[in-house]
Amino acid sequence: SSCLFVCLLLTLTEASPCPDGYKQVNGGDCFRVGLNEISSFDDAEADCNADGGMLASIHNPEENAAARDMECYYSVHQKLIGIRCVGIDCKWTDGTPLDYFHFAYDDAPIDNGQERCYSISDYDGMWYKTSLMPTEGRACWMCRIKAKTITCNANEVEYKGGCVFVQTTPANQSVAENSCPGQGGHLISIHSDFENSFYQSLASSAGITGSIYLGGKQYSDKDLSWLDQTFYDYHHFTPPFPNSAFGDCVQMMLSNEFGTLGQWTNVDCITKLPYICYRDGTVMPTTPVRLTTTTTTSIQPLASPNCPSVQYFNKAGKIYSPNFPLSIPAQQRCEYVISTDRGTLAHIKFPVYDCESGTKLTVYDGLDSEDPLLYFTSTAPNPSRLYAATSNIIKLVFEPTDNSSPVGTGWEAEFFPF
Ligand SMILES: *[C@@H]1O[C@H](CO)[C@@H](O)[C@H](O)[C@H]1NC(C)=O
Repeated sequence: SSCLFVCLLLTLTEASPCPDGYKQVNGGDCFRVGLNEISSFDDAEADCNADGGMLASIHNPEENAAARDMECYYSVHQKLIGIRCVGIDCKWTDGTPLDYFHFAYDDAPIDNGQERCYSISDYDGMWYKTSLMPTEGRACWMCRIKAKTITCNANEVEYKGGCVFVQTTPANQSVAENSCPGQGGHLISIHSDFENSFYQSLASSAGITGSIYLGGKQYSDKDLSWLDQTFYDYHHFTPPFPNSAFGDCVQMMLSNEFGTLGQWTNVDCITKLPYICYRDGTVMPTTPVRLTTTTTTSIQPLASPNCPSVQYFNKAGKIYSPNFPLSIPAQQRCEYVISTDRGTLAHIKFPVYDCESGTKLTVYDGLDSEDPLLYFTSTAPNPSRLYAATSNIIKLVFEPTDNSSPVGTGWEAEFFPF
């Protein structure tokens, strides 16, 4: 019985997986409401950032119901959430995939090129479009932060439900990445101004004065990929960077020598630098990426090896499978939404298709259609055949069919209005 008491006490005093003021939802991440007189979406985001969180993304009906039920203020019945749309191009600011939505019928995103924010209603849990500038009185919003699932070591700092480790001994980037402690430990990725300042001051207070490695690899001047496979939704490059002529790796400057304290530049990956690692217990699927770092081939992929979110494409253009034309990464589901101009019919063709096994590419006529227009597994479509939708929207889903590694180099699609 004494054990019963002690054990009970231990359980009760065990630290909550959520920071103060947050509530864990459905055994997953932690949510809280924010309330203040704010003048923009960014003010609300900054409030969430101050805890290491972001405006809340919502990924399933349970999270939606919990967000609906969290009360904010007696006279405010809508809470801003972290979705931003430009026309029908919608993204969660925390970079997570748009895999669930609950727009109020009259307020669903429309293809008008205008920017929209959304709030969740206390009454029906639907998402209503919200003015970007709440002008008067109070506004409410929802913040989301990862629940703590691991215990940090004495030489680590707790942050965002995970642990941060500062290594002052310099190493090249591959050695640095591989020496990050713990399961799923990686060189840091950065997703907000708050986070940038947080890591900058952590490095400075550890006595680092030059620069540190961040966990970014530059695929092209537009496309950076984080080693922890999070979404590339923020950067703090100082002009004229990003510029991969200086190297494919990314460093944060820790001095004002170039007027660039906390800003990023590219650096050659063989340079030895101090670095910071982060781990939160999440282990991302490792994709066997055959890249050009040490091999003799000089082919650069036309698309990043990762497709963590729905990708939106407008008007006309080309789309490539991840890592094309290098090997197809394993176990990734990619979704592409194509919208040509209103009043036109979207057309698509597949001039290159090399997927020998392990994948399926499905073409949908419109966004919500249950019935696929067609799909391809190992048999290539006729490269000159045009496929037409009955509206201006086509959706593509490229996904694994089994657990084996896909064989092939992927596909290229061309789309245009007609
Ligand atoms: C990084 O350093 C390790 C150990 O010194 C070395 O084996 C490796 O080739 C280096 N990598 C690069 C890209 O310079």
